[in-house]
Amino acid sequence: MAIQRTFSIIKPDATKRNLTGKIIAKFEEAGLRIVASKRIQLTLAQAQAFYGVHKDRPFFDELCEFMISEPIVVQVLEGEDAIAKNREVMGATNPEEAAEGTIRKEFALSIGENSVHGSDAPETAAEEIAFFFSGLELVG
Ligand code: PPS
Repeated sequence: MAIQRTFSIIKPDATKRNLTGKIIAKFEEAGLRIVASKRIQLTLAQAQAFYGVHKDRPFFDELCEFMISEPIVVQVLEGEDAIAKNREVMGATNPEEAAEGTIRKEFALSIGENSVHGSDAPETAAEEIAFFFSGLELVG
């Protein structure tokens, strides 16, 4: 498998509980390299734009309000098969269904407050990376 890049968010529930370092350690232990990272506070308009694909889902407003409730850490992770590897390390969206040892099993509070976001495909990874980072900020 080729080296890939994927996009990751450490969500408000995790930054609020000071779990950023513990979550980054999980990525690094899985062989993912952090090639860009910044802590930001989203505006409502930015959250709505980022999650636009979910705008008709019943939880859209709740999701956007949650994502602006505290700072987040946006990152680009690089490694072999990075998209699938990151999703494996994250665990299932619903922490009750997440496998042992995954980030969501260990840290997530609920299906909404689930500590991390990760891109689900190469196309979305490219879009999500470009949403938050310029090429100059990616340092492999
Ligand atoms: S998927 O695979 O994208 O279709 O996943 P999905 O389960 O539909 O969830 C998409 C994102 O929405 C969040 N989510 C919720 N937020 C608040 N309340 C409820 N009930 C809820 N259900 C899902 C979920 O955490 C996903 O966020 P991201 O950031 O994409 O992981």
